[in-house]
Amino acid sequence: MDIAGIVLAAGKGTRMRSDRPKVLHEVAGASMLAHVLRGIAGLDPAATVVVTGHGADAVAAEARRIAPDARTAHQAEQKGTAHAVAQALPQLTDHDGPALILYGDTPLIAPDTLRALVDALSEHAVAVLGFEAADPARYGRLIVQGDRLERIVEWKDATEAERAVRLCNSGVIACDRALLAELVAQVGCDNAAGEYYLTDIVALAARRGLTATVVRCAEAETLGVNSRADLAAAEAAWQDRARRAAMDGGVTMQAPATVWLSHDTVLGADAVVEPNVVFGPGVIVAPGARIRAHSHLEGCTVATGASVGPFARLRPGTHVGEGAAIGNFVEAKNATLEAGAKAGHLTYLGDATIGAGANVGAGTVTVNFDGAGKHRTEVGAGAFVGSGSMLVAPLTVGVDAVTVAGSTITQDVADGAMAFGRAEQTTRQGLGARWLARQRARRAEAKGRG
Ligand code: UD1
Ligand code: MG
Repeated sequence: MDIAGIVLAAGKGTRMRSDRPKVLHEVAGASMLAHVLRGIAGLDPAATVVVTGHGADAVAAEARRIAPDARTAHQAEQKGTAHAVAQALPQLTDHDGPALILYGDTPLIAPDTLRALVDALSEHAVAVLGFEAADPARYGRLIVQGDRLERIVEWKDATEAERAVRLCNSGVIACDRALLAELVAQVGCDNAAGEYYLTDIVALAARRGLTATVVRCAEAETLGVNSRADLAAAEAAWQDRARRAAMDGGVTMQAPATVWLSHDTVLGADAVVEPNVVFGPGVIVAPGARIRAHSHLEGCTVATGASVGPFARLRPGTHVGEGAAIGNFVEAKNATLEAGAKAGHLTYLGDATIGAGANVGAGTVTVNFDGAGKHRTEVGAGAFVGSGSMLVAPLTVGVDAVTVAGSTITQDVADGAMAFGRAEQTTRQGLGARWLARQRARRAEAKGRG
């Protein structure tokens, strides 16, 4: 059955104390709105309408970025959740089937939960996603009779007895689109907040002899964000869920609570992620790769059998090939290490290709920036780059070529050649000891005076 999604995202989010619209704050590197739209996308909706208000242009742009077909409806004044839905409905007059209403600030609801809510419409006119709250605070309370939901009462309007109810409204509601339009048109604003409450449609449906029901989910899933502390709680809940999913998929994490994932991190089975690793957006780790402790990765791929870290930094555009190794204090940006290539220690590889099986010695730097533009370094397969090489780009070091340690290499090195780019050494016998003796004497003299 075709589903229409309605995402309410007009609110200001005063308690965020932010210039940014609330729904554009991020969880796991993606806006909360993106999480919600991707959740709905899991149901393959026929149409989605995002209701915008505060920061409408930015919110609409993000909606289109994530879901190019998404429509937007502007709610100039926030008069309540039913009023917000009423702004979206004119864009759905051609829709025949269930409408699913979500909040842009509630980013953790899984597609399966949304599906269960829609499925409940086969027996009931309205389905509301509810949860048992550890601390029900100011949530709307769900007043049930058996498995029937009689009405929803907002905290502000609730009696003491109603406030004692722990079953709360998550805000997510499913209802046939045409019926929803009829019910929303009947909602008034005679309540403590003077707002048009969407929650009133439950009692309005009951008055027509129609039934409503509650579909329950875990509280962590319905976590709504109103403050920075809530945002941190949503992040923690998301991370917990993503780590669990990764481990269920065969990834080893020795200290999962210290691993930070992004909304799009892909970790293959039998990958090992050691403690204190941060995955920024756009990372794909192939099966059987190892990401060692204290590494930071973003926008990169790590192939099977490769090893990264400890203390490595992989920046966007980096590809670590099969069985390749990136060691400690190595930074790579826009760099490809082909199969079996190695850069073990204290190295910067920027705008570079390191050929298969090549070895990059400690302290090597690709000198890729000349103050104006970036240039590439190409190191051929099997090459040996001596420790402390400055590879001044644009530069090609050939297949099986060698640069000797401590070289500044400014000219291309042909296949199989050995390049010396360092000053010749002179050694004077005895001078070291004489110089040291003089320095020690001076120090002793200064100490005597002092
Ligand atoms: C709402 C529910 C409450 C539920 C709670 C869950 C109503 C009347 N109450 O209360 O039962 O327990 O959510 O978090 O529905 N919005 C608009 N336009 C408006 C008003 C709100 O777009 O005119 C959006 C907000 O941006 C937000 C969402 O709707 O994303 C919920 O609004 P909010 O004011 O937070 O509702 P609550 O008072 O929390
Ligand atoms: Mg709220």
